[in-house]
Amino acid sequence: MITHPTGIFDNSAKAYKHISVTPLSAAMGAKVSGVDLSCLTAHQFREIEHALFRHKMIYFRDQHLTHGDQEAFSLRFGPFAEDAYTKGVNGHVNVQPIIREADGFEPLVFGFGWHTDSPFLLRPPAISMLYAVDVPPFGGDTIWANSALAYHALSETMRSIIKPLSVHMSMEKVVTLAQTEMSPSNSLLGRIAATRDMDNLPEAIAHKVAGAFHPLVRTHPGTGEKSIYCDQTYSSGIKGLSQDEALPIIDFLIKHITQPAFTCRLRWKGNTLAVWDNRLGIHQAFNDYNGFRREMYRTTVAGEVPA
Ligand code: SIN
Repeated sequence: MITHPTGIFDNSAKAYKHISVTPLSAAMGAKVSGVDLSCLTAHQFREIEHALFRHKMIYFRDQHLTHGDQEAFSLRFGPFAEDAYTKGVNGHVNVQPIIREADGFEPLVFGFGWHTDSPFLLRPPAISMLYAVDVPPFGGDTIWANSALAYHALSETMRSIIKPLSVHMSMEKVVTLAQTEMSPSNSLLGRIAATRDMDNLPEAIAHKVAGAFHPLVRTHPGTGEKSIYCDQTYSSGIKGLSQDEALPIIDFLIKHITQPAFTCRLRWKGNTLAVWDNRLGIHQAFNDYNGFRREMYRTTVAGEVPA
């Protein structure tokens, strides 16, 4: 069901004292300005965190950050999360390089498909942030969808149907796609492609394919806001339902969450940092910049067991 804009949208900015906020779309997202992330005050941080929970994704332009600055900003939200895909960069194990070279023509790009970050973990990352160093002249945008707004827009009856359900989150689709579509290489997905045999996966990947069950409707620990915890890349079943029963529900929820009216899209520039809350939205990267380089660095903040 496609929902048209109704009275339930409210992505307006609050009046803050220490930061300025400009909404990006009617559904979600906002630009935060008037701050230098390498030397934030405690007052600014408190308002930034409030803006993140309100807008689900916030971004900052013209930030000149070292890996150490990004780590320090990330640590303000909490300890680093386990990273499911990389071992970081030299001297900064928690700074994950997401780099595609201009000649790196690959059928899949890291972050393809609508997803929340690493939900196959028992404690998926709460918050992720991505810092742009080198961006293509066009393409390479990131798009987010507001799954709290999507929950709010469901009928009472649908909400009561999905509330008691647990969703199975697994890395299986990513492994299968990497094995069939990609050649083994040193890229993030190329290393998964190198596994080739689904029955003989290295323990670390087998564990992520086995995945975890989480509530299909989760409650944000900071604000109490409810959201649909379901995505296209990792949601692979529902506890107690056959696949014939579960997949139409998952498909409906993904279509519902990702309807254009519930999204925002960021056009990257160098020195932009975007921060999003994985408990309140899903996102995806586009594979539309062949021939151009894109260099980004990601940190993730540990989350709770979803409830
Ligand atoms: C991600 O899914 O974390 C990466 C998004 C992007 O590269 O745009």
